[in-house]
Amino acid sequence: MSEVLKALKDRRSVRSFTDEPVSEADLKTILETAAYAPTARNTQAWRATVVRGLDNVARLNEAVKKANQQPGYERYKELTATASYSINFHKAPIFIVVGVDRTESVCQAEDGALVIGYILLAAHALGLGACWINQLGVITDEPEFRAYLTSIGFPETHRIIGCVALGRRASNPPVPNRNLDHYNIVG
Ligand SMILES: Cc1cc2nc3c(=O)[nH]c(=O)nc-3n(C[C@H](O)[C@H](O)[C@H](O)COP(=O)(O)O)c2cc1C
Repeated sequence: MSEVLKALKDRRSVRSFTDEPVSEADLKTILETAAYAPTARNTQAWRATVVRGLDNVARLNEAVKKANQQPGYERYKELTATASYSINFHKAPIFIVVGVDRTESVCQAEDGALVIGYILLAAHALGLGACWINQLGVITDEPEFRAYLTSIGFPETHRIIGCVALGRRASNPPVPNRNLDHYNIVG
């Protein structure tokens, strides 16, 4: 099997990380690889905001918890209200927030999801671990959260498509059940 096909099948959502840092070179390789993701009309209207270090990730977590308690942004209200909740359950040393420009991208969710897919696969190819974390998209425009996003350089015209928790993987979990019959072939 080609190395690419093997990597596609072996990549898992990693939810446990070691304390060892991710090197600058690896982080750069991941972000550069993501730039090769396809985007509709090749707009490439996305930006990854990298939040690095447990302190900075803790600030992001606090902002997320607060935003989810605000009127109109309650989708994860109960989940995020508990003292034990953290977007960083898995203690990843890096969070990558992927935003797509509402004014430029003609397929925001699709463009952003492919970028995130490339990030997940590039991390795997480097022997690192990564996991999509989902609870940020719905609060992108909550005013206080937006102010926090602006303070970390997240562009005003962007919306969050998803986040990636990234670190050195403690292990690559076994493959969860996969159905292999998602297709039909005509002709
Ligand atoms: C859109 C999307 C949102 C996800 N959100 C989360 C999340 O918030 N937390 C989490 O631990 N995993 C999340 N995942 C990871 C999935 O649970 C995981 O991909 C799935 O269980 C299959 O496992 P695998 O990635 O190891 O193949 C998400 C995946 C996708 C594609």
